[in-house]
Amino acid sequence: MKILFVVGARPNFMKVAPVIEAVRNSASDRFTSVLVHTGQHYDANMSDIFFSDLEMPQPDRFLGIGSGSHASQTAKVMIEMEALLEEEQPDLVLVAGDVNSTLATALVAAKAGITLGHIESGLRSFDRTMPEEINRIVADEFSRFCFVTESSGMNNLEFEGIENDRVFFVGNTMIDSVVKYLPKARERFAGLAERLAIEQKQFALVTLHRPSNVDDRDSLERFVELFEAMASFAPRIVFPIHPRTLKQLEVFGLMERVKRNSNLALIDPVGYLEFLALQDAATVVLTDSGGVQEETTMLGVPCITVRENTERPVTVMQGTNELLGLDMPKVLEFAKRAFSGQWKESAIPELWDGHAADRIVLILKEAL
Ligand code: UD1
Ligand code: UDP
Repeated sequence: MKILFVVGARPNFMKVAPVIEAVRNSASDRFTSVLVHTGQHYDANMSDIFFSDLEMPQPDRFLGIGSGSHASQTAKVMIEMEALLEEEQPDLVLVAGDVNSTLATALVAAKAGITLGHIESGLRSFDRTMPEEINRIVADEFSRFCFVTESSGMNNLEFEGIENDRVFFVGNTMIDSVVKYLPKARERFAGLAERLAIEQKQFALVTLHRPSNVDDRDSLERFVELFEAMASFAPRIVFPIHPRTLKQLEVFGLMERVKRNSNLALIDPVGYLEFLALQDAATVVLTDSGGVQEETTMLGVPCITVRENTERPVTVMQGTNELLGLDMPKVLEFAKRAFSGQWKESAIPELWDGHAADRIVLILKEAL
């Protein structure tokens, strides 16, 4: 049987790599795999670097889609994917997460009558102004295999009327990658410390890329102010900047002001191993990323999520995550608290144990 894996954007690689590996290790007699990269992300540090860091095979097929509006990006993936599926005739298509490449592939596979599986199924922010929410709902609706990462996902899918026999609580493949690569990532810290002038547990790490935060001048400016205010207690702030955010800082004329903040290390996006090393060594992480909320919970590192909602409530209820929206005085207060060593107790969520991909492969072996 042929499994066709689809990746396209940064957060896909770490979710799919463990499943490809598990298929190769334990089911290569049953399944062959084809890896398709849509090219939604294309900069070397948003794409290529993850293949070496995560020891992934090079893509068998590359669609070269690139950036565009939601409709044009999704439509381009759909057109290319339709022809590709026709040629490849896979028995199963596996998509991950909630990016436009996930949505486009799910729609095409569903219409072609090809069995679909969704890695990281069931997450809901209940905020349909987020493009990702729409993408997740569609992928789940059409999946024969909904592979769920946390218990809220089981409830959400039940509420939406998705039949039990399509839903599998397997844990989190993104966490499989953390478990596998954390020792190797830690070896990278010394180099980073020298390059960025940071010390273990003496800096804040920041990522920002949600359109609601960075495409609006006022909110982006509030972050610039926040970073300035943090200088009173944070010896250093490391900010590997997403290309969308970099573009917006320039468009809004905020770049000069950011550069004047000598406490802020504004750097290009880094690869998986370096980013994992930075998260692990940070005092606190400020983010609007989905995946980073989970990784910090796994690492036991305080996380402040600068969003109004999260599709990953387990990271707040059990993990290290505090959902603070854009309440900057509160963000500042919590960040300060992290630097004084105060944070809530946390636990690692159920089945976040490094074996989610093995469970997925077992389920596929039994079902197919
Ligand atoms: C996408 C996902 C988002 C995910 C994020 C992870 C959708 C709708 N959004 O958002 O869910 O959290 O990836 O990083 O799928 N750009 C580059 N180089 C690149 C990629 C992008 O310069 O390699 C710039 C382009 O100006 C582009 C912009 O970033 O227009 C946005 O890229 P896009 O893929 O549309 O969305 P992201 O914001 O990256
Ligand atoms: N990440 C990375 N380098 C960076 C920033 C993030 O490797 O400079 C990793 C991070 O460890 C996580 C994933 O990218 O595994 C999260 O992706 P992103 O925040 O782009 O998307 P989201 O999770 O919000 O969809």
